[in-house]
Amino acid sequence: MPTVHVDLGARSYDVMVENGLLARAGEAIRAAGLKGRAAIISDETVARHHGAALSAALEAAGISSDLHLVPSGEASKSMARVEELCSSLAAAGHDRRSFVVALGGGVVGDLAGFVAAVFYRGIPFVQVPTTIVAQVDSSVGGKTGVNLAEGKNLLGAFHQPALVLADPQVLATLPDREYREGYAEVIKHAAIRDAGMLADIAALDPATREVPADLIARNIAIKARIVEADEHETKGIRALLNLGHTIGHGIEAAVPYGEMLHGEAISLGLCAALFLSEKHAGLAAAESREILGLLRHFHLPLQLDPAITTERVMQKLGRDKKFEGGNIRFVLLRAGGDAYLSEAVTKDDLVEAVELLRGTVE
Ligand code: NAD
Ligand code: GLY
Repeated sequence: MPTVHVDLGARSYDVMVENGLLARAGEAIRAAGLKGRAAIISDETVARHHGAALSAALEAAGISSDLHLVPSGEASKSMARVEELCSSLAAAGHDRRSFVVALGGGVVGDLAGFVAAVFYRGIPFVQVPTTIVAQVDSSVGGKTGVNLAEGKNLLGAFHQPALVLADPQVLATLPDREYREGYAEVIKHAAIRDAGMLADIAALDPATREVPADLIARNIAIKARIVEADEHETKGIRALLNLGHTIGHGIEAAVPYGEMLHGEAISLGLCAALFLSEKHAGLAAAESREILGLLRHFHLPLQLDPAITTERVMQKLGRDKKFEGGNIRFVLLRAGGDAYLSEAVTKDDLVEAVELLRGTVE
């Protein structure tokens, strides 16, 4: 079974990736040394598809569990839900001897991870990611948190999971659009650190909805190595994971809520980052085209709707935390698999890149 070990000293853990792993979640949790009762936190959609299977797997390993649900969607990443969930756990008799199991996409993982970080001043938690984004990205690295009206992820804590159980088979119930958007982050990781993987992704047929476990594991390993090198994002290494996210977040925030999925906005952000990498980092046009071709392969957007003005995107982007002290720290690619953090990009460059997103992309 592909297992990626995340080496963080006392906070180290395994990310196990295997088809059918959900049914063996209890065994794996026991083997990782977790004890006590489990509070499963999930959203209504994911629980409908996979909640019973997880509860049965825990029961089969002698782990007693109960289920705590939130509505599906980004709006559940709020302090109000954190408080509700903590009350619900306390009312169910959980205490510092319990652990949390986050069953869901990035929303549930971030929310449940934060609950685990603050309940009784911190209890262990297990990530059981059910979207592609959650399997390759959000379940690994220990960033947990919720949103404020003023912006996304403004409240949070670093709290590493004790174990991550990624079962590619659970992705079969994802709607097609959510399946395709997940590949934006897979492509992003490959573009940052593993050029060879770009060709492997190109060989997949999106129509078959295939998500090979070894590709997921290799993609997770990219993030794992980056997190090991810069757990708390203080050394300019973890920031590389923001490739495509500066302009992507601006676009996501500029579009009416719910109209564009995160991965779709990141696809546009990646297009802009490719243009800026050609301009400032010497990225070869052919490499840029290879990555654009991959986004197109998964039917991800490469063109910005003219109704979304550059002014509005720039306004939203100005609030992004990546503008530190007025400097724009922007992730560029020298080549596929070779990302670095640059200070060469100006605000005018960003305006030009957003404008270009309205043009025809080859
Ligand atoms: P999500 O959690 O909202 O899931 C998307 C939708 O798919 C939801 O409606 C959910 O109910 C449904 N769903 C999930 N798994 C399913 C399945 N197997 N079958 C059917 N439906 C399923 O979205 P996401 O894209 O997974 O995560 C986005 C969130 O992740 C954002 O809040 C983002 O900020 C966060 N994130 C965090 C990190 C991190 O490092 N902590 C990294 C990337 C993203
Ligand atoms: N998703 C970016 C990070 O974990 O740092």
